[in-house]
Amino acid sequence: MVQKARRKALMIALAGSALMMATAAKAQGTLVLYCSVQEEWCRPMASAFEKETGIKVSMTRKSSGETYAQIKAEASNPRGDVWWGGTGDPHLQAAEEGLTEAYESPKMAELHDWAVKQWKGSQGRTIGIYAGALGFGFNTKQVASRGIPEPKCWSDLINAKLKDEVQVADPNSSGTSYTMLATLVQLMGEDKAFEYLKALHRNINQYTKSGAAPAKATSLGETTIGITFMHDMVTMVVNGGPVKVVAPCEGTGYEIGSMSIVKGARNLDNAKKFYDWALTPAAQKLAEEAKSYQVPSNKNVVPPPQSPKLADVKLIDYDFAKYGSSAERKRLLSKWDNDVKKLPK
Ligand code: G6P
Repeated sequence: MVQKARRKALMIALAGSALMMATAAKAQGTLVLYCSVQEEWCRPMASAFEKETGIKVSMTRKSSGETYAQIKAEASNPRGDVWWGGTGDPHLQAAEEGLTEAYESPKMAELHDWAVKQWKGSQGRTIGIYAGALGFGFNTKQVASRGIPEPKCWSDLINAKLKDEVQVADPNSSGTSYTMLATLVQLMGEDKAFEYLKALHRNINQYTKSGAAPAKATSLGETTIGITFMHDMVTMVVNGGPVKVVAPCEGTGYEIGSMSIVKGARNLDNAKKFYDWALTPAAQKLAEEAKSYQVPSNKNVVPPPQSPKLADVKLIDYDFAKYGSSAERKRLLSKWDNDVKKLPK
C-alpha cells in the first residue's frame, strides 16, 4: 500500500519535471535558418547553436541566388529568420530592396574592417562572416593524360582543346558564378568580358546549380577544370583528390560571405541570438572542422593553415556597392541569359 503510494508520488514528480523540461525547451522557441554555404558546414552550425541555446533550428540549404529569390518571393509572408552564408552581392541586393532587417551586434568590434564595411554599406542590413577568393582548380591526372599545359590564367580556359572540359555554376542560382561574372566585367571591361564568356560557353560541360559543385566534379574527374572559390578546391585537396588550386594570373575577384536577418522574421529575438553567436570565435571555428577554408571575419580566429592567403592572390578592388546593387545584378544576369546561355554550343 505504502509502496504503491510512493510509486504514484514518484510518477507524478517525474511527469512534472518532464513537463517542466518540455516547457523550458518550448520557451526557447525555434529559428528558421536559410543557409547558403556547403551542407557539411550548415549542419554543424545548426546543431551547435541548438545545443548551446536550446533553440530548435529548422535549416534549409540553398545557393545564394536561390535564397535571395526565396526571401523575395516570401516577402509578404516571411518564413525565414536568418540568412547565413553565401556571397555578399545577393545579400546586398536583398538589403537594398528592404527584404532584410538592420541590426547592430555587440560583437561588431571583434570583426575585420571588410566585414564591418559590408554592414555599413548596407545600412546595417548585412554583415561579413567570411572572405574567399575566386579561382579554379584542375584535375592533375586529366590534364596530364590529355597533354594539356597546366592552366594558370583565365585566358587558358577558353583554349579550344578544352571543349566540354570546364564546369561552372549558373550565375542566376549561384553567388559563386555571379562573382565570376562581375569579376570578369571589372577585370576586362564589359564588352571583352562577354566575348570571353561566350568563348568559355563552348568549353562548358554543365552549368551547375550550386557554386561548389564543380569542385567535387573536378576531384572525381567528371570535368577537367572547375571554376569555384579557391577554398572549395582546397577542400578537395584536403580530401585527397588529384586537384591543383589556381589563383588566375590576370587577377581575380573575391566574396564577402554574409549574414542577414529577414525582414518580418517571426522569431526575431532568436534571429538576433543566432546572429551574435555566429560572429563569435567559437562559432566561426566550426568552419575548419567542416573543412571549409574561408577567412573568418572575427579577428580572434586564426584562419585555418589550408586557407588560401588572400594577400598572395592578385585581388581586384571588387566594387561591392555597384555589383551588389539590385539594378546592376539584374542587368548583368539577364544579359548573361540572353547573350551567353542561349547560345548554341
Ligand atoms: C560555397 C563556398 C562559399 C560560398 C558559397 C556560395 O559554399 O564555400 O564560400 O559563399 O559556395 O554558394 P553558391 O552556391 O551560391 O555559389
